[in-house]
Amino acid sequence: MDLKEKIDKNNLPEHVAIIMDGNGRWAQKKGNQRIFGHKNGVKAVRDTVEGAGELGLQYLTLYAFSTENWNRPKQEVDALMTLLITSINSETDTLIKNNVRLMTIGDTDGLPKNVNEKLNALIEKTSVNKGLKLVLALNYSARWEIVNAVKNIISDTKKMDVNINEINNDFFEKYLNTKDIPDPDLLVRTSGEYRISNFLIWQIAYSELYFTDVLWPDFRRNDLFNAIINYQQRERRFGKTSEQLKK
Ligand code: IPE
Ligand code: IPE
Ligand code: MG
Repeated sequence: MDLKEKIDKNNLPEHVAIIMDGNGRWAQKKGNQRIFGHKNGVKAVRDTVEGAGELGLQYLTLYAFSTENWNRPKQEVDALMTLLITSINSETDTLIKNNVRLMTIGDTDGLPKNVNEKLNALIEKTSVNKGLKLVLALNYSARWEIVNAVKNIISDTKKMDVNINEINNDFFEKYLNTKDIPDPDLLVRTSGEYRISNFLIWQIAYSELYFTDVLWPDFRRNDLFNAIINYQQRERRFGKTSEQLKK
């Protein structure tokens, strides 16, 4: 049976987030430079985005570049930025054809100007699309996002008369980059690493976590489908007891 047929369409995660990891190791295993892995990672992105759209997921967030990734060798960082531009150029038509809407989270103002301009143009071009929302996390880190939210709250509370008791989860979330995006139901990390690496710390409070040894350039839609099948076997209790959920 086709793997996709095993997925219960009535219990799809609304939002899947992926920490795309293992490009460098994939390339090195093949005796190549790390950037060769990043280039092949684009194929994995393409297939995963198509698979997510085919399934009817609402949101797919991909961790593409963290604020800490600036600390990599300049040659690798430069190559990643160039790859971002060439990928936007090569994938634009497919994204539009598949009705995908592009969004970003992260400090995109801190990206090189030409990357930012390309991104903004594609965000604008796809803004009317009603299919999958593809959220790229670029120059993103969860601690940056949270500290930034706190700064903006303090600045707004100086301007507006906010009662401190009004500050609750809902209030706080409006200051995050993800303010219009539901929390991920499922978080996937590839490459056999078991850590979060400063990704969506607030938003994954109740996400189901799924780890796979597959290195990102080898990841394809069937790997996404496997993660979702695994997700569908879990019971999300949100603090309640199993008995309460069955009532
Ligand atoms: C993920 O692959 C891509 C980015 C972080 C940009 P890595 O480049 O981290 O690959 P490994 O983890 O070193 O193998
Ligand atoms: C996390 O991967 C960031 C992205 C996938 C963009 P890293 O490879 O940077 O994470 P660490 O350094 O191994 O934790
Ligand atoms: Mg890595």
